[in-house]
This record gives sequence, structure tokens and C-alpha cells, in this order.
Amino acid sequence: MRKYLFFGLMMLVSSIQAQKFEDLAKTPPMGWNSWNKFACDINEKTIRETADAIVSSGMRDAGYMYLVIDDCWQVKRDSNGTIIADPERFPSGMKNLGDYIHSKGLKFGIYSDAGTATCQGRPGSRGYEFQDARTYASWGVDYLKYDWCNHGKQNSEAAYSTMRDALYKAGRPVVLSICEWGTTKPWEWAKNVGHLWRSTEDIINCFDCKNYWGGLGVVQIIDLFTEIGTYTGPGHWNDADMLEVGNGVLTPDEERLHVSMWAMFSSPLMAGNDLRTMSKETVSILTNKEVLAIDQDKLGISAIRWMQFGDYEIWFKPLEDNAFAFCFINRGNQPVTVDQDLKTSIKKYVIDGSYGIRDLWKHEDIGNTKDNVRAVLGSHAVLMVKLIKK
Ligand code: GLA
Repeated sequence: MRKYLFFGLMMLVSSIQAQKFEDLAKTPPMGWNSWNKFACDINEKTIRETADAIVSSGMRDAGYMYLVIDDCWQVKRDSNGTIIADPERFPSGMKNLGDYIHSKGLKFGIYSDAGTATCQGRPGSRGYEFQDARTYASWGVDYLKYDWCNHGKQNSEAAYSTMRDALYKAGRPVVLSICEWGTTKPWEWAKNVGHLWRSTEDIINCFDCKNYWGGLGVVQIIDLFTEIGTYTGPGHWNDADMLEVGNGVLTPDEERLHVSMWAMFSSPLMAGNDLRTMSKETVSILTNKEVLAIDQDKLGISAIRWMQFGDYEIWFKPLEDNAFAFCFINRGNQPVTVDQDLKTSIKKYVIDGSYGIRDLWKHEDIGNTKDNVRAVLGSHAVLMVKLIKK
């Protein structure tokens, strides 16, 4: 009898622990991550200045809340197995840095790996999951990106579930960002394990390219999202990877297309540029509230590719309040003419002539669905519109 009571109590404790985590990512998490711009060249000065810049640029108020320190903050374990942050690059310690981030009204994210070593050869969490989760809780960590290098023969679901359980046990609510690059189809198993899962190999800084180790440009990632949209939703998101906006390679048109499509996929939005030195145009692309609202739409439905004519594609996403978003994208090098009747039924959704059409990049009402949408799209440009019931 006592055994059953004990078992029942344990189940209750674990379900209370789980509840604290469930509501953490009702909409896709937004923030900044150090990797795309800084790779291993990170230190507390850069992170503090980034925290200042995310506030002064208006990004925090636009929704970018998580400031995530990616690989290379950690150097070794002490004799008790406790993970140690690089004392030269982070002399004030992680608790102190977390306090600074929190003092700015932001949330603190960190990175580890389910294997023995991270992708850059720093200590991983394998065998130390519960100890690391307690350490992160003592530092005030709110978000853990958990990578998959050097994972050995582990089963991915089991490995990520171990870290989830460790975070539950440590008791501090933490968003768990699974990063196994889509290799074991996390969309099929990760819904109750983490809040988001990277769905593809790493993004690289280009519009249309692939590299030798599997890195993908913007359009290569877009193509992979044609198959997995139905798995995403409130609390559990397909993650299209961090943004390359403001990193000096994509043109403003390509950057708008990149952000528009990530929003169409309800992907987490993690800026990946140097926020301290970004241009006004970069800020305006990252903080376009009408576009961010499409990403953060409460229904959390991922877009479908509705039509495809060579390099010209039309994507469609249902939104709350009977609204819809459409993206017209030109992946090619020649201009494309858009002349599209949007009165139609797509899946179970019927679109008639009674919608106003708003251009979300120009912030202008451009007519209604009685008429066709007309535009000319330059190379790699996007027209993103919202249909609002009249
Ligand atoms: C992997 C991840 C990247 C980044 C690096 C850090 O490649 O997918 O996003 O975290 O590791 O080493």
C-alpha cells in the first residue's frame, strides 16, 4: 500500500513539474543567439552589450526575449563534475551575467550537447544531465539549446528525454530547444520532449546554396518545410534555424523574404547578427510588427506551398480571426509579375471576395479580394499580404 502511495505521489510531483514547462512556448520563442555572427568568439562584454542593444533597438519590445549564448562558453568540469564557464571570457560568472540579462527584462539562454562533447569540442552533458540542469537553474537559465554532436550510439528521443527530466527535476522552468538537425525526424517524437526542434541542417549565410558539410541557404530550408508543417503548433515548434538578417550577405529583399517565410512557418525567430552595430534597415526588417504578428499568430499553423510556377511560388497560412497570410516569392533572377485571384478554397478554408488586403512590408492597404492582387516582384523579392475579413 505504502509503495503505491509513494508511486502516486511521485507521479503527482512529476505532473506538477511538467505543467510549469508546458506553457513556456505557446507562441514560437523569439530572441538572439550568438552563433551565426560570433561563433566561438564570445565573451561577457559582447553579451552585455547585446543585452543593451536588444533593448535600445526596440527588439525586446518587438518580442525578442531570449538572449542565448551558444557553444564555447564552457571549458571543463571541476573535480565534482560541475561545468565551468571560461574564466577568461566570462570572469564575472554565469550567474552574474544571467542577473544582468534579467535586469534588462530579458531571458537567459545557454547551450549544451547531449553527447560527450559539444560541436566545438567543449564538455557535453552526457552523464551529467541532472547536475548540469541544477547548475543552470542556480544561474537563472531560462532556455537551453541542446545539440547532438558526439552523441555516440544514443537514441535521440531517450537522450533528449533525459535532459527534459533533468530540467523538470531541477525545478526552474526552462525552454528546451532540441537541436539534432532533423536527422531522426524530431517532429515525430519531440512534441512532449522539447518546445522546439531544429528541423534541418545549419543555416549558412546565403540565399540559395549548400555547402560540403550540409549547411543550407534560405531557399534550401524553405523547401524542407513543405513536408513537415503539420507537426508544428502551440508549445512545440519546427525550428527553421537562426536568422542571417544583418550579417552582410543577403540583400534587403532576400532578408525580407527570409523573415517572411520564417514567419509563415511559425518558426522560432532568433536574430543572429551583431545588434550593437546593425543598420536602421536591419532593425526595421527584424522589428516589422505586422510580419512578426504572422509568426506569433496564436493558431500556430505552418504555411503550405499553394502554387508553384518555376521560381515563383505562393504560400498560404490561416490565421486567427478568420484571417489569412499569403506570401508571393520570387526565388529566381528575373522579375515576376503577380496577377492572382485569391478567391478560392484552400483545404477547408474558403476565401471569398470580402477580404481587405494589406501589404505587410509597405504597411499599406492595397485593395480587396474582389480584385486580383497585382505586383511585380524583383529578383528574390517577396510580397507578403494579410487578408482581413471586412
Ligand atoms: C551545431 C548547431 C549550430 C551551432 C553549432 C555550435 O552545428 O546546429 O546551430 O550551435 O553546433 O557548435
